[in-house]
Amino acid sequence: MSDLAAPHILALTAYEPGKPEDELRRELGLDDIVKLASNENPYGPSPKAIEALRTADLQLERYPDPRGYALREALAAHHEVRPEQVCLGNGSNELIDLICRVVASRGEHAVFGHPSFPCYRIGSVAQELRFTAVPLRDDLNWNVDDLLDAVTPDTKLVFVSNPNNPTGSYIARRELERLLHSLPERVLAVIDEAYVEYADARDFAPATDLRDMRERLAILRTFSKAYALAALRVGYLLGPRGLVFDLNRLRAPFNVGTLGQVAATAALGDQAHLRASVEATLHDRRALVEALEGAGLRVAPSQANFILVEVPKPGRAVYEDLLRHGVIVRAMGPPLQSWIRVTVGRPAENERFLQALVHVLREARV
Ligand SMILES: Cc1ncc(COP(=O)(O)O)c(C=O)c1O
Repeated sequence: MSDLAAPHILALTAYEPGKPEDELRRELGLDDIVKLASNENPYGPSPKAIEALRTADLQLERYPDPRGYALREALAAHHEVRPEQVCLGNGSNELIDLICRVVASRGEHAVFGHPSFPCYRIGSVAQELRFTAVPLRDDLNWNVDDLLDAVTPDTKLVFVSNPNNPTGSYIARRELERLLHSLPERVLAVIDEAYVEYADARDFAPATDLRDMRERLAILRTFSKAYALAALRVGYLLGPRGLVFDLNRLRAPFNVGTLGQVAATAALGDQAHLRASVEATLHDRRALVEALEGAGLRVAPSQANFILVEVPKPGRAVYEDLLRHGVIVRAMGPPLQSWIRVTVGRPAENERFLQALVHVLREARV
């Protein structure tokens, strides 16, 4: 800690990312490590994205296209919007921060869920916003009335992760419609759909289907999860032109690198690969849930590529015990201290996790 940081920044705890495999390798001297901690897609990106990186004239000595022309055109065609309605980000994370800085002034108010993705809080605090973190029902489930009740005359932003990280829960179509319809006009509704490709509930609707319901609606998507390009940091926002124009006032120049633009454009063009890889994970998710429940554990129903598992001793202790077995998952903060979050990996990785978990829990009973 220094005495340089502004007081409101000192109130922040740094975002704690999933432990990198190399770190655990260094710490424990383990070779065989399974990382199921950051909701990455273990099946990897489209071969067309890899091929595009191999064959494109990357001109690494040049800055990237500052406006991301090709990728924004491709995204606009894919989502049937105008390119002026697409803003690219260095991951959708950057866009969350940018939205807070551009849309809300110091002292205005933001609403988001708890537990949910920590960056809504970080972005709000950084901009000196007041905020309400609305408790999810039973710590797991969205309730639209609770969100609406938290809105004040100063509320400028409402962030909803749908499906939600870390709970895997979702707001069903009717309720999402009601939320979009009922929020006061001045509010920007931000629907963060980082995991949308994995949502298969019949009553789930992507916000892209509900765009006509609300002018002030921003939808966040990412190439980090189902598209399996997390290393390249590409996310995007779909929203009204005016919002995108204003975001561009503050967006850092060249915020998305050339490699990211090239690979994401190619990956977007390979929807068949995306579907196959999502299908595989949905199959693996069902199998993992079944196996965990078969082992007598409670699992929160998930519409994403991760699962919350309740454990009979503190989640942090289980997390640490699993590390010693070379398995990296995520321990949860309050109110989910008795849960761990595990990314759905390949079948062999899931099996390894399961065996290690059963072992760790058995040791705990002895
Ligand atoms: C709900 C949610 N939104 C946004 C992000 C940020 O993803 P990225 O910056 O890689 O696009 C994540 C990452 O875990 C997430 O879980």
